[in-house]
Amino acid sequence: METILSGMKPTGQLHLGNYEGALKNWAALQNNYEMYTCIVDWHALTSEFAETGHLKDNIFQMAVDFLAGGLDPQKCAIFIQSDVKEHAELHLLLSMLTTVPTLTRLPTYNEQKEETGLDSYGFLGYPVLQAADILIYNAHKVPVGKDQEKHIWLAADLAKRFNNYYGKTFNEPQVLLTKFPTIPGLDGRKMSKSLNNHIALADSEEETAKKLKRMFTDPEKLRKGDPGRPEICPVYLLHQIYTPDHENIVAPCQSGELGCVDCKKRLTENLNKALEPIREKRKKLVEKPDFVFDILRDGAGRAREKAQAVMAKVRENMKLAYY
Ligand code: TRP
Repeated sequence: METILSGMKPTGQLHLGNYEGALKNWAALQNNYEMYTCIVDWHALTSEFAETGHLKDNIFQMAVDFLAGGLDPQKCAIFIQSDVKEHAELHLLLSMLTTVPTLTRLPTYNEQKEETGLDSYGFLGYPVLQAADILIYNAHKVPVGKDQEKHIWLAADLAKRFNNYYGKTFNEPQVLLTKFPTIPGLDGRKMSKSLNNHIALADSEEETAKKLKRMFTDPEKLRKGDPGRPEICPVYLLHQIYTPDHENIVAPCQSGELGCVDCKKRLTENLNKALEPIREKRKKLVEKPDFVFDILRDGAGRAREKAQAVMAKVRENMKLAYY
């Protein structure tokens, strides 16, 4: 069986975009792969080093969403990155094989530097730590979105160069591009927590209804009766995912017969229905933090076993196994 490593920064509660774009896919993959899912708290530190108090709750909320969203801890080791110290050791060794210009050329580096003003050593090394996350499990595949593709290529390149220097040690991991519709946020831009335009899996039915009420629609459709353009309407994009007979909305929206208020009501019903099982599970899990943290601890144990075996081989091949 091939191995998959997936990772996510602990941003707290997941939103619809995270669910449709990543989690749903991971839950499907766990049936066919040896799977490791890592909550990457060290990566979060690159931007949140000064304020770490919320990390634990963010990790907890994320673990709850992973479990409620369908990850099965029997099939998939769910764990916290900093629980497996081997990631840090491999990161250090890989950093010797990485040139600084390789890292400063990455678009993610330049964009985020611009956006956040970050310029720390740890921030520069972010993709090297990510490569360590992947290679320490000798992963074959990494499910990510397009924006992360170059980071996986870097990991594959490091694996190849390591193998050339020290003998075959790592698989060269491949990107498993997840094709998914971009989930629009309430303001029509891509759904994201930092834009605060998201619907969280943890939101109640009422909160969801309230949020959808203020969601952007076709700006030229101001009142019922005005002709609408479903093809540019973010609400219709969500209908395409959550409303089984969404084609039936097109004509009445275009003619003006269906107003945005009623259209959103329908979406609210369908979305709430789709999320109900996740929310039910979520409610139960939030009440049982010990149970959830035990799952993470157990996941880390299994991850560590594999990581230690790979690390032993790394040291041996690098001639660092001195005794
Ligand atoms: N950089 C990834 C992101 O921002 C998170 C991540 C860290 C990751 N380590 C990983 C993703 C390893 C895949 C594999 O989404």
